[in-house]
Amino acid sequence: MDAIAERLRAELAAAGYTVDGVAERLGAQANNALARNETTLAYRETASGDPIDTMIRLFLLQRSVPEATVSKAFPQTSEKLLALGIITAEGDEVRAAVDIRPYAEDERQWWVVADLTPGLDGRREPMRPDYVLGIAPASLSLVKLTVPIKAEKALDIGTGCGIQALHLTDRVNHIVATDVNKRALQLTQWTAALNGIELDLREGSLYEPVNTERFDLIVSNPPYVIAPPSDGRLTYRETGFAGDAVVEQLVRRAPTHLTEGGWCQLLANWTCIRGQDWRERIADWTGDRAAWTVQREQLDPAEYVELWLRDAGLHGRPEYTSRYDAWLRWLEDQQVEAIGMGWINLRNLPGTLDAEEWPYEIEQPIGPHVLDRFERREGLPDDLTGLHLTVAEDVVQETAGQPGAEDPATIVLRRQRGMRRAEHADTVLAGFVGACDGDLSVGQILDALGSLLERDDVHADYLPKIRNLVVEGFLDY
Ligand SMILES: C[S@@+](CC[C@H](N)C(=O)[O-])C[C@H]1O[C@@H](n2cnc3c(N)ncnc32)[C@H](O)[C@@H]1O
Repeated sequence: MDAIAERLRAELAAAGYTVDGVAERLGAQANNALARNETTLAYRETASGDPIDTMIRLFLLQRSVPEATVSKAFPQTSEKLLALGIITAEGDEVRAAVDIRPYAEDERQWWVVADLTPGLDGRREPMRPDYVLGIAPASLSLVKLTVPIKAEKALDIGTGCGIQALHLTDRVNHIVATDVNKRALQLTQWTAALNGIELDLREGSLYEPVNTERFDLIVSNPPYVIAPPSDGRLTYRETGFAGDAVVEQLVRRAPTHLTEGGWCQLLANWTCIRGQDWRERIADWTGDRAAWTVQREQLDPAEYVELWLRDAGLHGRPEYTSRYDAWLRWLEDQQVEAIGMGWINLRNLPGTLDAEEWPYEIEQPIGPHVLDRFERREGLPDDLTGLHLTVAEDVVQETAGQPGAEDPATIVLRRQRGMRRAEHADTVLAGFVGACDGDLSVGQILDALGSLLERDDVHADYLPKIRNLVVEGFLDY
């Protein structure tokens, strides 16, 4: 495969089949329409018969192309691509059987192999159970969440088309990528070969393929959809584990597969059970390890069922309402009143769980901020009074109140970066932050404020708030 992959890579590159090359060939309107799964305009723009047009029509538009034109685009590999089942012949015409898609980040150019994108031009096609998902918005969320550390060994659980593993290649020496789906491992093997990278691919469920090995970083965009057992289960999103047990297992077992200080980062869905606080359930999973979970969105059961039935291409099909009803009943039977969607970050260090709802816009990539927040939380001394703090450059203060009033009615400190936090401050806290220019220590500023206000409780009242401002990056130390 490697020799063919090398030739194929050369053909794709020579044709200019890159993210920029495709955008340039299609033009903005057709390219944007294609991002919305509409191919009509892109088909118009690719009539020249050039190799790049052939590649776009085959892989991105899923159109058939005359065999002679395909041979011209892939002079060295077309026979092999047919033999490998990457393209298939129908009479004199050829079609793609899988998607080969250019993908780029900063200066890096890759091609990713996955199953064909469903739903082009509004077609409703139920997916094969072993469907291998391409680069999805969730995949990119995890890419952006991943902490930018250099590591010796990383594990990508449920690698799919290999997108997470691909992103780790320039900073991790040894990457183990696993999947239960043989087809996913096959397509990831092609992704790796096409990009000239080495992955240690292993078949099996969750941590099974890694036995007692430990990793500096574990990432997973797991099949977290909380769905009833059914014959039509899609491996890329459902496991058959009860409720959110797949996420629970990944989290609970992570510490035994992490090096000291190692990271586990997951995208997840979790059930919010009537009468229970979802934070407590996740705290039980993370145990005595340092962890941070953020619920980015919460859906009620009906919204959840609609989302995933649509995702499977079932909206408008005859079985839609019966599947909807059965799924909803199954959630009701388990007392699920909502489903949380978000991230779980765990570090293999002693600590506790910080759990929060934060549905607001954040800076992307958020990974560097996740790293920074853990370092601040774990690294701050118990006693802050000796620290000399400065205000982070991105902090702005917003005040509101009656015109002419002596003091503002509300003061909000807002960060422009990271989680884009906003914290309400009273005049004392705002005064404290205003005095943080690195000159006086925390203790000295609090003492000065205490004597000014004739209060002897400012240390007790404000030190926890100051700690929070440092952890959240408003104040640097
Ligand atoms: C949502 S896809 C994510 C694919 C890819 N990592 C990404 O970020 O786009 C989940 C993947 O997990 C795999 N999977 C399903 N059940 C699994 C299990 N029990 N253990 C490991 N992987 C599993 C699926 O085959 C699929 O490739």
